Amino acid sequence: MLRHFLTLKDYTKEEILQIVELGLSIKRELKSGETKHYMSNKTLAMIFEKSSTRTRVSFETGIFQLGGHGLFLSNRDIHLGRGEPVKDTARVISSMCDMIMIRTFAHSMIEEFAAYSKVPVVNGLTDTYHPVQLLADYMTLVEHDHADELVVAYIGDGNNMTNSWLMLAGILGFELRIATPAGYEVNPIVLADAYAMAESSGAKISIFNDPNEAIKDATVVTTDTWASMGQEDEKAERLKAFKGFMVDDGMMAKADSDAIFLHCLPAYRGQEVSESILEGAQSVVFDEAENRLHAQKGLMVWLDQQR
Ligand code: CP
Ligand code: NVA
Repeated sequence: MLRHFLTLKDYTKEEILQIVELGLSIKRELKSGETKHYMSNKTLAMIFEKSSTRTRVSFETGIFQLGGHGLFLSNRDIHLGRGEPVKDTARVISSMCDMIMIRTFAHSMIEEFAAYSKVPVVNGLTDTYHPVQLLADYMTLVEHDHADELVVAYIGDGNNMTNSWLMLAGILGFELRIATPAGYEVNPIVLADAYAMAESSGAKISIFNDPNEAIKDATVVTTDTWASMGQEDEKAERLKAFKGFMVDDGMMAKADSDAIFLHCLPAYRGQEVSESILEGAQSVVFDEAENRLHAQKGLMVWLDQQR
């Protein structure tokens, strides 16, 4: 059956754990010198309407290691950027390629693309969600023995990362505390979805405006940039509004003493996180970044196997 990966909301707990487990087993194979070509001669089209370091490198390297080929398509190069309709682009690319990854602005764009695509479409970040990042984040928690009795504190902007954490908590059933400044709260529709999912999964979701309250005894602390891609003009105003929200030594000291720190990167030192925390002993951000490769290989193979 054709499955897309647009938001975690479409996935069960068992499916998410299966994808992460598959990624971990492919990672073990790679580390022991084995590269199995699970996707021999398959092509992955990668459409980027926003910048990227990790997403591009991990998907392109990942499909290559799986025996396939990645095509980097910036919207400056393809006709999508000159106004060719999404539905035409979707039908053309999906008639030639085996999988399509898209990084774009409006989430509705990838929904429309997926509706016209004959092959799996993977969300490589939209304004609303960044689900592939959460696969890597969860893989990192498993590897660092932090996946059980999880209490995650997200400190910062209510954005695509926050929404994705809400979906993961709603599905897997862990405790998630979100602290944002007033006026930068999470999307109420996504929050309502997460509360509805929590009723069956047992997730405990709480919302704060005080980061020092939210972080108390958390086992995982995470944050993200205060100005996401597309919000560059709001940067100065946001720097003022987020005063007091930097994850620094003082704030981190309130979390569990074994807590680890995650950040999807790119990080802005001295803004959402201090240099000392980002580079400190509790930070696992570079393991997390590397896991983008392994988690997405698991995802691509899993999606390919569903067909
Ligand atoms: N975390 C993440 O998606 O990074 P890039 O923007 O570099 O792809
Ligand atoms: N919230 C950030 C995530 C970057 C990976 C953005 O959308 O720019």
